[in-house]
This record gives sequence, C-alpha cells and structure tokens, in this order.
Amino acid sequence: MAVRDGLESDAEGIARVHVQGWRESYKDFMSPDALAGLSVEERLSMWRSTLAKPDPRSKLLVAEMDCREIVGFVCAGPARAEGAELLATEAEFFAIYLLDRVKRQGLGRRLMAGVFSHLAGQGFRSAGLWVLKDNLPARRFYEALGGQAGPEQSFDVRGQRLAEIVYRFEPIPH
Ligand SMILES: CC(C)(COP(=O)(O)OP(=O)(O)OC[C@H]1O[C@@H](n2cnc3c(N)ncnc32)[C@H](O)[C@@H]1OP(=O)(O)O)[C@@H](O)C(=O)NCCC(=O)NCCS
Repeated sequence: MAVRDGLESDAEGIARVHVQGWRESYKDFMSPDALAGLSVEERLSMWRSTLAKPDPRSKLLVAEMDCREIVGFVCAGPARAEGAELLATEAEFFAIYLLDRVKRQGLGRRLMAGVFSHLAGQGFRSAGLWVLKDNLPARRFYEALGGQAGPEQSFDVRGQRLAEIVYRFEPIPH
C-alpha cells in the first residue's frame, strides 16, 4: 500500500472513498436516510475545486493499493474560521477516511504521521479536529496517537442532530 500526495486526477477516487467511508463507518450513528442521501457527484465537485487550487500550507494524502485503487485519504490545513473558538488549534484535520477492508493495518497512523510532519514543517504548533461523539473507534484511534479530548457541540447533518467532540494534538507529534 502506498501513501502519496493527492493529485487533481484523484478527485473521483477520493469522492468515492468519502461517500463509501461514511456509509460503512457511520451506519451505527447516522440515519439510513441521511446516508442514502450522500452523493458522489456532490463530493466530486467539492474535491475537484479543492484539488484545483492547492494551498501550500495544507496537505492531502491518499492511500493507494498496488492496482492504483484509492482506499483512503486524509486532508488538513490551517484551521477554518468556523468553530475556531472551540477547536482552538492553529491547524485542523478536515477529513480522514479509510474503507472498512483496509482498517487496522496501520494505514491511518501512516496518513496522520505524513500530515503531522507536513504541518510541523509549515510552522503549525497545534492541530485539532472534530469527531462524532459516538464514533468510538475513531476516538480510540486519536487517543492512541496522543490526542486530547476537548469541548463538544451539536450540529445538524441532513436533518439529523449529532454531537461532535474536539481532539487536539499540541504540540504536533512528529
Ligand atoms: C479512524 C481510522 C482513520 C483509523 O485508521 P486505521 O488504519 O484503522 O488505524 P490504525 O491501524 O493506524 O490504528 C492505530 C491505533 O489506533 C487505535 N485504533 C484504531 N482503530 C481502533 C478501533 N476500531 N478501536 C480501538 N482502537 C483503535 C489502536 O490503538 C491502533 O493501534 P493497534 O492496531 O496497534 O492496536 C479508520 O478506522 C477510519 O477511516 N475510520 C472511518 C472514518 C472515520 O471515522 N474517520 C474519522 C472522522 S473524524
């Protein structure tokens, strides 16, 4: 399995993993309607525009099988203004998703390490993220990497009210 920088030509593979990742990993805490309403096309246009104007302070890595199939990705950069007060870190992880069939093989750890080292090299001193409060596997993962739990908030996603919680890495491990 290779981990490499995401390219414009990866938009479709990333959008597919993004939607399949939600459907596989969020089925226990999101409604079937919300998951069925996810659209690869919608994600595709979002990832196309992200990949078309890369920000040097940000990092997007993909995990690729030998047959060149994308099975995971991670994306991080300067923290967004939205939610910044509660997140309270300089950098933010926007997404990390792996397909079920490649989980628990150290790939998540490799993707995070690649981003941590980029963020530290860019001078960021802290990184954080929001994770669904009920997403215990992901929370255990962030804790295994040294993340510290922070504040919580609720938000609406496709008609469903969900709670999310902050994890912070400060200083950034590298
Ligand atoms: C969370 C995720 C990125 C972890 O990636 P991964 O490759 O499966 O994790 P790794 O194999 O690198 O695990 C590293 C360590 O994290 C911990 N960990 C990972 N998954 C865990 C789980 N399901 N339960 C408990 N601990 C877990 C373990 O300590 C593990 O070390 P070990 O395997 O030596 O015990 C991956 O499971 C995923 O994509 N999940 C679905 C999407 C998601 O929830 N994303 C988070 C959005 S905020």
